[in-house]
Amino acid sequence: MKKRDFISISDLANDEIEEIFRLADRMLDRAGPEAKFCAGKIMATLFYEPSTRTRLSFESAMQRLGGSVISCPDMRFSSTAKGETIADTARVVASYADILTVRHNWDGAVKAMAKYADVPVINAGDGSHEHPSQTLCDLYTLRKEKGKLKGMTVVLCGDLKHGRTVHSLLYALARFGAHVVTLGARGMEIPQYVVEKLEREYHYSLAPMASDDLQAVVSESDAVYLTPSQPHQLALFTQVDPEMQSRLKNLASRLKFDALYMTRKQKERLKEGGEGEGREYPRIGERFLRERRFKDTVVLHPLPRVDELSPEVDKDWRGIYFKQAAYGVPVRMALLKFLFDALESRKAVGKHKTVNLFKSPEPIGPQCLNHNCVTRTEPVSAEPRFEALFAGGGGGFVLRCCYCDHQLKVQYVGHTRPKRYCSYDSSLLEAVQRWLMQGELAIFDSLKQAEELGYEPYKVGPQRIIMDEADIRRSIEQISDQILAGTGERDRPLILGVRSKGAVLAGRIAEQLKVRRNRDFELGEIEIYGTEEEIKRVPASISETEREPINLKDRAVILVDDVIHTGRTIKSALSIIFKSGRPRSVRLAVLVDRGHREVPVKPDYVGKHIPSSDRERVRVKLREIEQDEKDKVLIYSVIGPDGGQPPPDLTAEATVS
Ligand code: NCD
Repeated sequence: MKKRDFISISDLANDEIEEIFRLADRMLDRAGPEAKFCAGKIMATLFYEPSTRTRLSFESAMQRLGGSVISCPDMRFSSTAKGETIADTARVVASYADILTVRHNWDGAVKAMAKYADVPVINAGDGSHEHPSQTLCDLYTLRKEKGKLKGMTVVLCGDLKHGRTVHSLLYALARFGAHVVTLGARGMEIPQYVVEKLEREYHYSLAPMASDDLQAVVSESDAVYLTPSQPHQLALFTQVDPEMQSRLKNLASRLKFDALYMTRKQKERLKEGGEGEGREYPRIGERFLRERRFKDTVVLHPLPRVDELSPEVDKDWRGIYFKQAAYGVPVRMALLKFLFDALESRKAVGKHKTVNLFKSPEPIGPQCLNHNCVTRTEPVSAEPRFEALFAGGGGGFVLRCCYCDHQLKVQYVGHTRPKRYCSYDSSLLEAVQRWLMQGELAIFDSLKQAEELGYEPYKVGPQRIIMDEADIRRSIEQISDQILAGTGERDRPLILGVRSKGAVLAGRIAEQLKVRRNRDFELGEIEIYGTEEEIKRVPASISETEREPINLKDRAVILVDDVIHTGRTIKSALSIIFKSGRPRSVRLAVLVDRGHREVPVKPDYVGKHIPSSDRERVRVKLREIEQDEKDKVLIYSVIGPDGGQPPPDLTAEATVS
């Protein structure tokens, strides 16, 4: 039998959410026709993390519908303590109940459990990932209070990095045509994987907005983002256009804020040593209540609150978070009815998306970079699976984890039949897409991994050195001179390299600047997808005060990368920069410009222009990264197992063999 789980807010179409809201309206009348809808049915609640509202409102909802609830008072006293996997727990409990409601501290754990349970599973919060039933309550409250969702401007505030309620809500607001302004605590901005999912799936882009006055009301934090109804491309320009900036500023000052969604700092999710994150945490209190611009702004909060929301707001009509919590029962009653109805009518899952699913054909394959992803914490319950995104954010070929949505950039690809591999490059796009379709694509995290699995490298065609050690040194010197000519001391320049080769070059530029000015220049690194903070100081400082996130406000940022091609990597880097602060300008320095831009980004400082063809590969070799090698830039092509053929034909050749 087809069952319908509710793991992500994306599992429901907009009209289905509307249907749930209509049902919820009916549920407000407890004596209504649905009163005994769940008679004879059992819900099991499995909460591996603390909960008050979510659990009790789900349990109350089930009982109000005439059903009953079984539960484990504390998962520490369940067989989990004896080492039972979530897969086994899900399988067993599903045979005791008609529906499972699960909260877990691992990202993606509820999705993994849903695969093993043969009854519907509801995600009541999985790690920092999503909390979709909370979003239903949030949207329902907002609509009841403001009459609509479309066109509303909602400020999301606080810990936007770890707050799962925020992620689900952001996707939903985008889908319902609301405008979103984000006010993250510094170091707790919306993660890049969420920003890119928003763009990819909902065609919604967060654009930076200058509104210092707004920040001042709630915090010291820098980042303010706006999702305009007409997404524009400000983040694509490397120079912050003053005119655009002032237009946005005007827009911001005219904006009416309909709601502010405050969230707690998710202390339990901070990594060790992450105490610096969110140090200046926003707070809503008297100042907010006095501010004219917020006179019609209702305040929501998923609760619990700690000290980010002062009790003064409770007495004001705008504080509607207790109402929001109370709606938890009718909304969850409606959700339960919706899911059981779907089961009976055997309605398949709303929309079937066709995705390029990647599952490693080899015993070792790529791993999700999120250490808290269920594929890392309990791989026996969740084998890594990814959606293949070609020309995704970050440039090139990106994998999105099907459990937690985090992304990783593909480094090495292999073809299973000839057992050959090479590093990924856009010249391989067509071949790799074909291998994927045929189930013959292997992906490796490292060269070592490929070789351990018995793969041999594809041969490399004739190589041409287009820049040697001396050329590279001269380019770095030239770029450094140009940077100094274009930047004043008062701009407080910050050199930011894109990991990893861009970061090496950024380090060399910083050295040159030091030689010329006889002082240190601040240096940082951007990691587009990874396990670390998105922007971090180099060298990583150990002293407590300097561990604070780099402040970008009003600075002249020089972004450095080795090669610019489609421009997508730079687009992602710019998006990270703008959400982390409000620099005065961002200039781009690259060693090589290959042309073939897909997004409108223009480098300001270029070592060498190499108008190469799409089939050629350009590789920058730097001694800091490739040991025993001299610095050089190479141009070459890849050859199939029997020699001679360029990459796209490499598949054809392999298919014949
Ligand atoms: C939230 C959660 O658990 O994610 N609470 C809730 O479900 N109402 C928010 C939080 O814990 O901060």
